[in-house]
Amino acid sequence: MPHRSTDWKPVRHRSTGWKPVPHKGEGRFHRLETGATLMCPDSQTPPHPVRFTAMIITIDGPAGSGKSSVARGLAARLQIAYLDTGAMYRAVAHAALQRAVDFDDEDALAALARSIELELDCGLTHTRVQVDGQDVSDAIRSLAVSSATARVARCQSVRDLLVERQREIGRSLGSFVAEGRDQGSVVFPNAEVKFVLEASLDERAARRVREMQTDGGGVEFAEVVENLRARDAVDAKQWDALMAPGRASVVDTSDMTLAEVVDTLVEHVQAAG
Ligand code: DC
Repeated sequence: MPHRSTDWKPVRHRSTGWKPVPHKGEGRFHRLETGATLMCPDSQTPPHPVRFTAMIITIDGPAGSGKSSVARGLAARLQIAYLDTGAMYRAVAHAALQRAVDFDDEDALAALARSIELELDCGLTHTRVQVDGQDVSDAIRSLAVSSATARVARCQSVRDLLVERQREIGRSLGSFVAEGRDQGSVVFPNAEVKFVLEASLDERAARRVREMQTDGGGVEFAEVVENLRARDAVDAKQWDALMAPGRASVVDTSDMTLAEVVDTLVEHVQAAG
């Protein structure tokens, strides 16, 4: 029987803004001969096993392309860790705001990044972040931190430090899905499977609006379009190198549901494994 994405119980995650996908009842986990585990409705056996060997999977792309939701969904389907590298830049920005560090002073930002103890707990559907023993996982999602993070992410010496830390974390994880802007191009150039997710500006904005509405906030579509346009202009497009033929699988998610994107990526991973 062909695999229909709607038969699968979706992984629990923060509201995503993606178009809702119907699903049926409860399921149970099936351990496959490959060692992978899948959630499947009680009435069915898994339609096909997810085959993969230990591997690094990278997902890069612009803001609002659905990277985080897709990375979490993929990591959960493959039962491997999810490394959210944006959270690390956000954690440094949060610490800089708390300590009133001058965002125009690159040396001060780099000194701060060197001095803090940044700990990540990479689960299947989350990355929790601690700075100097304090859990900042929720605090780093504020609008103030989002704006400040773009300035931190432009600081090359901070990038160098965080790239090293990401590689160190990667070595401790084994198989994982790494999500960011430079994962396939800079941080893990030897990753077995590399994805670039794209989506039209309008669709990215529509997702953000749905996401914010689900979280109880109201926002103008035009405002979100402008915000994304501005972020596109300053975002270092570090994944550009991956757009050359054969470097990565580029997936335009504009007309796809979250479940369809995750299914597509799983198929690529199976083919690679
Ligand atoms: O994916 P995100 O919104 O959590 O990322 C927060 C910021 O960090 C955003 O400005 C992009 C930047 N970033 C980056 O430059 N490189 C990464 N690997 C991850 C995020």
